[in-house]
Amino acid sequence: MHKSRIIGGLAIVSALAALTGCGLATASHGPSDPGTSVRAEPTKIDFVDPARVNGLASQTLHEGGNGARYVHISYPEITGADPLNAMVRAEVHRQRRAFEKDTSPYGPAPRPELNVDWQLPVATDEAVGVRLRTGEFLGANWGDSTRTYWYDGTTRRAYASDGLLSGQKALDTLAAEVRRLLAARDSGIAAGDVDPDPDLFDSMAFNRYGDLVVEFDECQVGACSLGRVAEAVPGAEIEPLLSETGRRVRRIAQESAPETTAPRIGPTHSPAATSNRAGTVDCETAKCVALTFDDGPGPDTGRLLDTLRDAGARATFFAVGANAAARPDLVRRMAKEGHLVGNHSWAHRDLSKLSSARITDSLARAQDTLTAAMGQRPTLARPPYGAVSADVAAAARKLGLALVTWDAEAQDRHERDPASVASTAMRQAQPGAIILLHDVNRATVDAVPAILDGLRGKGYTFVTVPELYSRSMQAGSTYRSGAK
Ligand code: NI
Repeated sequence: MHKSRIIGGLAIVSALAALTGCGLATASHGPSDPGTSVRAEPTKIDFVDPARVNGLASQTLHEGGNGARYVHISYPEITGADPLNAMVRAEVHRQRRAFEKDTSPYGPAPRPELNVDWQLPVATDEAVGVRLRTGEFLGANWGDSTRTYWYDGTTRRAYASDGLLSGQKALDTLAAEVRRLLAARDSGIAAGDVDPDPDLFDSMAFNRYGDLVVEFDECQVGACSLGRVAEAVPGAEIEPLLSETGRRVRRIAQESAPETTAPRIGPTHSPAATSNRAGTVDCETAKCVALTFDDGPGPDTGRLLDTLRDAGARATFFAVGANAAARPDLVRRMAKEGHLVGNHSWAHRDLSKLSSARITDSLARAQDTLTAAMGQRPTLARPPYGAVSADVAAAARKLGLALVTWDAEAQDRHERDPASVASTAMRQAQPGAIILLHDVNRATVDAVPAILDGLRGKGYTFVTVPELYSRSMQAGSTYRSGAK
């Protein structure tokens, strides 16, 4: 995709609201709409399509596998916005430490889980917004929360959301206005809980009309069953309360709102994904092994593709939808170079802890993004953490996805030493093995040349997962190994 060029490696972006918007999409209101009539979704924030932001990398922090607690954190890094990157990085590490303090790595099932993903409400050379979306599962239910950080390209400084305001007095006025608006709703909202506290006002952004959308986390201003509570404070009221940064962000949010929402690309409109040499190896007789790379695309995935190409080896990639949305060019390249691309859900939550509707949504969203990127529909999915349930299998069947886990792993998630990743992978390999690796881990990518050399020396051929099987893989079934 062609990207427009802006200072600091950022590009002006437009939104793919159908993929990343929160709430239902509205099609008819453009940014020039004066919006004086009733606004159908005043608290809806438009998000930019990360594929159109130059210099954007999605970083991943991961814990799982053999531990009794799951952590998957994804956060953006944007070239030229270092103060923002530092602020976002500090926040995700803070959340991880707090979660680890609150949970035990040795507790009983169900495993506690921390999941963080991100969206960009605004991304131009003048301003960038990063909205972190956190899901925390501590044994019974998911708790969801959001935090939004801002970068002002003019001052070259990063701010928490209250940096959009001119100071504490402005926050006092805003809190009073939000209390008034919330109290006018006939619901279980506790408007009195809305104190002028920057920690409570930690997730603010502008909608396409220039209104300030204030988001509260679950349980913050009323019963937890209310879910996300948000209020839109009209632009005319908010304008006098804004800082210079706030005014700039407000203008850009209005300018870059999409005229129309992009159509969703249905998975049925594209042919099923197939690696371009599938079927050329007979794994009944050859010594086959399937290298699988999870959680990307990440900052080192391009280098991994170079290595695989130079070695003439093919692999299977299980991509996270949110990462694929940021780097569709890498997904396209995987497919083009003969690798098989599978679905690893939208944001890497343990699907077995979600409702059927949310399982389907997570897989379908990733499916749409991957299909749009490569023009082929994935036929394989790897459930995050390898967690399969009856509901996960049913959703996969409905979407035409065979489930793939693994029978060998390089234990590379936290390994910093490439030699160690390589030797574990070598030790675990056996004919027909499906080997779990992670292309978001730099040491793994560094280890791949040694893995390819070593296994080839032992007579192995590298194939994609479907090639391990002489019969076609069935949607909804789980495959763990090609070993007989
Ligand atoms: Ni994973």
